[in-house]
Amino acid sequence: MVDRHILVLAAGKGTRMRSNRPKLLHHIAGRSLIDRVLRSAQALRPNTITVVVGHEASALQAALIHHPGIRFVHQERQLGTAHALLQSSSSFEGIQGSLIVLSGDVPGVKIQTLSRLIETHETTGAVATILTAHLSNPYGYGRVIRKNGRFVQIVEETDATTKQRAGTEINSGIYVFDLELLFKTLALIPEAGPKHERYLPAIFALYKKRHLRVETVVAVDSNEIRGINSQIDLAEVGKMVRQNKNEELMETGVTFEDPATTYIDNDVKVGPGTIIHANVTLEGRTIIGARCEINSGVRIINSTVEDDVTIYNFCVITDSRLASGTRIGPFAHLRPGTVMEEGAKVGNFVELKQTNLGAGSKANHLSYIGNATLGREVNIGAGTITCNYDGNTKHETIIEDSVFVGSGTQLVAPVTIGQSAYVAAGSCVTDDVPAGALAIARGHQTNKSGWVEQKRQKKEI
Ligand code: UD1
Ligand code: CA
Repeated sequence: MVDRHILVLAAGKGTRMRSNRPKLLHHIAGRSLIDRVLRSAQALRPNTITVVVGHEASALQAALIHHPGIRFVHQERQLGTAHALLQSSSSFEGIQGSLIVLSGDVPGVKIQTLSRLIETHETTGAVATILTAHLSNPYGYGRVIRKNGRFVQIVEETDATTKQRAGTEINSGIYVFDLELLFKTLALIPEAGPKHERYLPAIFALYKKRHLRVETVVAVDSNEIRGINSQIDLAEVGKMVRQNKNEELMETGVTFEDPATTYIDNDVKVGPGTIIHANVTLEGRTIIGARCEINSGVRIINSTVEDDVTIYNFCVITDSRLASGTRIGPFAHLRPGTVMEEGAKVGNFVELKQTNLGAGSKANHLSYIGNATLGREVNIGAGTITCNYDGNTKHETIIEDSVFVGSGTQLVAPVTIGQSAYVAAGSCVTDDVPAGALAIARGHQTNKSGWVEQKRQKKEI
């Protein structure tokens, strides 16, 4: 088998995005464009992967730190796609085989399509093979020009005649080349356009002039090869990627009330029998179990939700774990480090942070519990607050099994409430409460009888 090397073009500025963020670091469904392309590259198991970087090179390199074994080549000035490739010529000196060229801004191409492209290239013995597609709106792409059905050349939108522009077969910007011949020919590509760039697709005309074999492979699904040049492209491709993800999940038994408004990142897993209502966002490495119900307006980030969990409307859950049978919301906020054990419940306007809520425990209304460990079957009354911060350091609150905390209580940390203890409503607890005790920590009530009438009489005098 021939050696296969991959080169990814990623040095361009992405001017048409009109954004300060480097184009290839824009995200679709939780993955940056460059990350998507690198995943495809790695799935092909090539001998080497080289990425040509230039504009915002260090940001791009930092974003790819989790992809091991990538070689980076710098293109100081972005003088065209052929010029970009030329920058890598020293790393390919004396190396034979196939070079698969991917475009950093074409993130959706499937492995099967790339494999078909490589196979065609290697079995036909072509010197270059181009992945093409038919687009109903080919505007902006290089057009594939054929004569009597046979490939002739690629003409860029800006250089095309009106007749050529009417053609709907486009160049995807993804190719396989014979390595040695490619690097011998690149330098011969003439400068073109107002910016004196060297366009890689111009190489095919040079090959054809020498009667060398150039093959084309047409992508079956033209959506795969959509390039991202503008914010509109990004949104449209994003929509397709999400739709694919939702359909994948539907095929495994997940119910969607309205897939068009459900935003699920690619890495998210959802178990069968789970119902997802409209306007739900599941992000990052979130895992949802089986038979859950997630109501509309919920956003979950990097969290694990086990089986049979109900999440009512408008909850935000980040870096947390909800064990099976738990219920939360509406309007609850679980911040990083929250764990709800089996059957625990959290109600409206409750915020939890770095807190373990033991099995069967409840905080049903209007509470803030932070840096706390709660045992099993604890009841947190409405309006309970852990005062966990002294302006300097965070302190822990420990509430043991079966404790009852009355409404409107402040627990000034560090503090421990012993097993089965009661805290009277309205208490401000500053000292530990022993197991089984009742703590009352509030001012005594005095009723001044007849006070209102006396006040009224005073006014009249
Ligand atoms: C390119 C093709 C076009 C094809 C389209 C498919 C050229 C001249 N045209 O057009 O035929 O239909 O892709 O999406 O190749 N880059 C560099 N260095 C440079 C210039 C670009 O690394 O000097 C990188 C960019 O970061 C990008 C890729 O090459 O990832 C393509 O460049 P772009 O400017 O987007 O080319 P298109 O106009 O889309
Ligand atoms: Ca492009």
